[in-house]
Amino acid sequence: MLRELAHFARHAPQALRLKRRLSQAELYDHLCGAGEDAGMGAWRARLVEDLTGDVIEIGSGTGFMFPYYGAGARVTAVEPDAAFAALAAPRAAAAAAAITLVDGSAEELPGPPRSRDAAVVGLVLCSVRNPDTVLGELARVLRPGAPLRLVEHVRSPRVVAGALMRAVNPLWLALNAQGCNMHRDPLPLIRDAGFLVDRVEPFQIFTPGIPAFPMRAIWARAAG
Ligand SMILES: C[S@@+](CC[C@H](N)C(=O)[O-])C[C@H]1O[C@@H](n2cnc3c(N)ncnc32)[C@H](O)[C@@H]1O
Repeated sequence: MLRELAHFARHAPQALRLKRRLSQAELYDHLCGAGEDAGMGAWRARLVEDLTGDVIEIGSGTGFMFPYYGAGARVTAVEPDAAFAALAAPRAAAAAAAITLVDGSAEELPGPPRSRDAAVVGLVLCSVRNPDTVLGELARVLRPGAPLRLVEHVRSPRVVAGALMRAVNPLWLALNAQGCNMHRDPLPLIRDAGFLVDRVEPFQIFTPGIPAFPMRAIWARAAG
């Protein structure tokens, strides 16, 4: 925990300086771009490179997942923030997969029930208002047995670190101004929504300007 706190303290001043001169979307793209090179990109590739058919990605942000889809995927990328979507557009155009950016929210996904072959969620369940509703929508649009792939930061399973994350979450919410919570644990919610969880891999990335939260790569599938 000391290492994580030291990492945050060392890079916070520079991140706050950047926050003053960049828009929210630019700041996200700048800081997380460094995280992609530091290992996040490899996790994204592992999660989505085998997906084919009609894929729905929610909260696609500035499009960091797009380069890793294979040519056999047709991706509907749902993103409510126009500034994030604008930065995602060139990544969508450059991707091997056919990617369609859609203005919308994960609480009300496009498409009839059982119409999607796979779903992808990257760093989104931390910030949606109601993760249960979102997971319910994903369960609705996925075909039985279809893969759900997620990468999320989670509350630490260690008692003290987890309690500290709960305690400082209000401060973190004010700091990030994107509705990102650091104290959520999405795994029980994924199971409660009826998904079968096949594999969970923990990891951690130390990127300047981004807290080194505990991360989880999750391979799940719709029931049925
Ligand atoms: C931390 S960013 C993650 C972006 C991208 N998925 C990635 O992995 O870099 C969270 C994204 O979720 C989007 N978001 C927030 N609430 C949402 C909602 N209710 N429905 C869909 N997307 C949402 C935000 O606009 C933002 O682009």
